[in-house]
Parts: sequence; structure tokens; C-alpha cells
Amino acid sequence: MNNYNFIDLNFKEIAESKMIEESRSFYKKMDRRRSVREFSDKKVPQEIIENIVMTASSAPSGAHKQPWFFCAIANSELKHRIREAAEKEEYKSYHGRMSEEWLKDLEPFDTDFHKPFIDIASWILVIFKKPYDLEEGEKRKNYYTNESVGIAVGFLLSAIHNAGLVALTHTPSPMNFLEKLLERPENEKAFLLIPVGYPAEKVKVPQLERKVQEQVLKIYN
Ligand SMILES: Cc1cc2nc3c(=O)[nH]c(=O)nc-3n(C[C@H](O)[C@H](O)[C@H](O)COP(=O)(O)O)c2cc1C
Repeated sequence: MNNYNFIDLNFKEIAESKMIEESRSFYKKMDRRRSVREFSDKKVPQEIIENIVMTASSAPSGAHKQPWFFCAIANSELKHRIREAAEKEEYKSYHGRMSEEWLKDLEPFDTDFHKPFIDIASWILVIFKKPYDLEEGEKRKNYYTNESVGIAVGFLLSAIHNAGLVALTHTPSPMNFLEKLLERPENEKAFLLIPVGYPAEKVKVPQLERKVQEQVLKIYN
């Protein structure tokens, strides 16, 4: 035993039948999550956003470095500046940067470079990854940054869905304009932009098939 403190695990065993029921109903709930690209301007209370972000920040991370930072933007003027910069990048992506194959793969989503949801959604979350921390000017390396921040965003999207809101995972790449607009320090790299809010009335989403169990799971008994 080293000199670091260990505490009791907060764990309460539940009956197997209840576990089966809970796991099934959580799966069904998560399976109803959809990415939404048209939002209502209905406001979402800040406290909900705080709870959602802190759920994300409870995620596991390499050596517990928690290599993430979240910006939550409700300010209309700032959202508009982000939209303008995102659309500039997206215009270039849709008009030359993306391959023919990529553009073909995007056809079912009927997307283009216009991103009105950045103005309209109640909140814009921008997630940053931190490949290293800065401690008194010294660089301290973080580990498995992409994996850690990816898991945190998984928690984030689950928390948004659980709260009864909708989101879009958006990547207006390259995303370094977000670091500048949000005045982030040099060790923070923009990872994803996620509008959060209520869906537009009667919004439609692409009809997609999710892979069935046989395509994604092999059991080794
Ligand atoms: C890493 C990542 C990047 C994505 N980038 C975009 C994007 O820039 N624009 C967009 O409209 N959708 C984007 N999506 C959303 C996907 O198109 C969507 O998740 C997928 O079509 C499945 O639909 P669903 O989320 O409704 O299940 C992205 C998703 C992921 C995971």
C-alpha cells in the first residue's frame, strides 16, 4: 500500500432481474436519441447545462487527467460570430475540401454549409481537448486525450438526451477558429461543437438503420 488515500467504493448491488430490466430500458431510451439539425429558440435554463456538463466531466480519463474544457454559449452576438466562422469553413469543405465519396455519404442528411442552428439553439457547447496541462508555465503531458474526451462527450450526449433535450454533434473543421473566438489558452484544442436545445416543431430526421446485434457483438463464452 502506498501513501495515497483509498476510500470505500459507493456500490449497492441490485437484483439480477432488476439489472436486466434497467439495462433494457436504458438501451431503449438511448436508442431513441437522434441528432437534430433544426432547433427551436426556446430557452434552456443554465442549471440544466451545468448539470449536463458536470455529468460529462465525471467521465473516466487517462491517469485521471480530465483533459477537457467546456464552453457554454448563450450570448446571441457570440453565437452569431461562431456561426459566421463555422459557415466559412463549411463552405470550403462542401466546395472542394471533401472528397466526392464523402459528399455522396452525406447526401442522406441533406446538409450544406448553412448552419442556422448555431444562431437558433438555446446553447452552443464547445468541447476542448487538452493534450497537455500548463502548470506555472510548465507543460504536463496528458494521456489518451482523444479517448478520454470522446468518452466525456458520450456522457454529455447521454445527459442531454436524459434531460429531454436534443443536440447535434458538429465538426466545422478545421475548428481552430473556436479557440480564437472563445479566447482559449494555447493548450486547448477545439474537439466538437454541440448545439443543445429543443427541436424545431415537427422537425424531421433522416431515416437511418442502426446495426443489429450480430453486426456489432460477438460473445466468447
Ligand atoms: C464525430 C462526429 C462528427 C459529426 N459531424 C457532423 C457534422 O459536422 N454535421 C452534421 O450535420 N452531423 C454530424 N454528425 C452527426 C452524424 O451525422 C449522426 O450522428 C449520424 O448520422 C447518426 O445519426 P443519429 O445521431 O441521429 O443516430 C457527426 C457525428 C459524429 C459522431
